Amino acid sequence: MENESIIKVTGLSKRYRIGLKEELHDSLASSITSFLKSPFKSFKNLRRLANTSDESEDVFYALKDINFEVKKGEVLGIVGMNGAGKSTLLKVLSRITEPTFGEIEIKGRVASLLEVGTGFHPDLTGRENIFLNGTLLGMSKKEIISKMEEIIEFSGVRKFIDTPVKRYSSGMRVRLAFSVAAHLDPEILIIDEVLAVGDYEFQNKCMGKMQDAASNGKTVLFVSHNLAAVKQLCTRAILLKNGEKIAEGSVDDIIDKYKSVNKLGIETVGKKIFSPSDDVDFELLELGLYNSEGKNSYNFEYIEEIKIEVIFKILKSKPNYYIYLSVVDQSESTIFVTSDEDLIDGYLCGTLKPSNHKYNLWIPSKILKPGRYAITINCCNMFYPNVKQYPSVIHFEIIDSKTSRGIKSLYRPDQIVAPEIKWEFQGK
Ligand SMILES: Nc1ncnc2c1ncn2[C@@H]1O[C@H](COP(=O)(O)OP(=O)(O)OP(=O)(O)O)[C@@H](O)[C@H]1O
Ligand SMILES: [Mg+2]
Repeated sequence: MENESIIKVTGLSKRYRIGLKEELHDSLASSITSFLKSPFKSFKNLRRLANTSDESEDVFYALKDINFEVKKGEVLGIVGMNGAGKSTLLKVLSRITEPTFGEIEIKGRVASLLEVGTGFHPDLTGRENIFLNGTLLGMSKKEIISKMEEIIEFSGVRKFIDTPVKRYSSGMRVRLAFSVAAHLDPEILIIDEVLAVGDYEFQNKCMGKMQDAASNGKTVLFVSHNLAAVKQLCTRAILLKNGEKIAEGSVDDIIDKYKSVNKLGIETVGKKIFSPSDDVDFELLELGLYNSEGKNSYNFEYIEEIKIEVIFKILKSKPNYYIYLSVVDQSESTIFVTSDEDLIDGYLCGTLKPSNHKYNLWIPSKILKPGRYAITINCCNMFYPNVKQYPSVIHFEIIDSKTSRGIKSLYRPDQIVAPEIKWEFQGK
């Protein structure tokens, strides 16, 4: 029965009311795993939901008419930009949240490890939670006891295993959650971005476990922005955009599509044009990001240089104009700052004539680790107050689908940049 679909999703939609947290579960950010209850055990589970028609303006669809099937033993990658609906899809599949329309059929025992979910009881100890989750998954007490040691060992939280989970750090919780999910022998493993949490050593352990699960014929659904990991792990992928499945196919094709659709969004074109005002002496007219082929882009490979074009206007010549540009990561840490004072031949702005001018600058390749960044620009003048600031004026994304460093060192959560370091071996 190798070709049998183990998951079948038909016409699935999820509607949220804007500004309203629909599900209590969704806000329980403290717990990370979610394990599913008995109906999933081994028989076909069919759900059909009533057609609640309430098309007021403040509703919005996080998922729109999603259809796909997953065969037994497949490792399906789900990719898409922030807000595309990936986590929502996994939550619906894991029954953390109800679909608004559509059907899901799942045959087999599911264990899910989600960004945000339920499953861990904060007042119970780590050990008790292993029992609780194991039981929810339909494991016998004997089965859980026999795997207990292995789970504790893998999690690396042995010291705290008899401490209530509410005292755990979020990293510890993820470790325990993943360890339970990976050892309780589910037929289907659903994983959302676990690699983003936990330290480097644990990330590698997780990848190893997922690879094992995949090669042992388990079915895995894997959401990640780590495209190198998706490439390494998955056999097939789907691409979500604004709640819709816009493509499905081989991992390579989906990664290519992912890169190209990102350029189409209004927010994500990699170019900003400003309308000049008459009373500002020094301001931006245009800011654009260009890839190594000279094309305007929003996402860049780790191995690619990013060209930035800054077009600006000087209305009145005054000394001491500067342009500062900083690159900020998602946690708002400044990765670096550069200014036209860094021009090889000395800075020019202070001496420029009233006109429109342009600077080109290049962010070197192999420095920024994969992730989202923003650029902030300040047009300043040391002596005059009319400084124009452009905070987070443009966003871009670094992706890595070209190197094999993806899960080795590029994504380490404990590093801020990921420079390519030259290593040389001398020995026998
Ligand atoms: N409980 C909720 N109530 C209202 N809107 C929600 C809720 N949960 C998610 N959304 C919205 O649904 C959309 C999809 O969110 P989702 O978390 O599925 O995206 P994602 O693809 O996982 O993004 P990311 O890559 O950032 O994790 C977003 O616009 C989000 O704001
Ligand atoms: Mg998500």
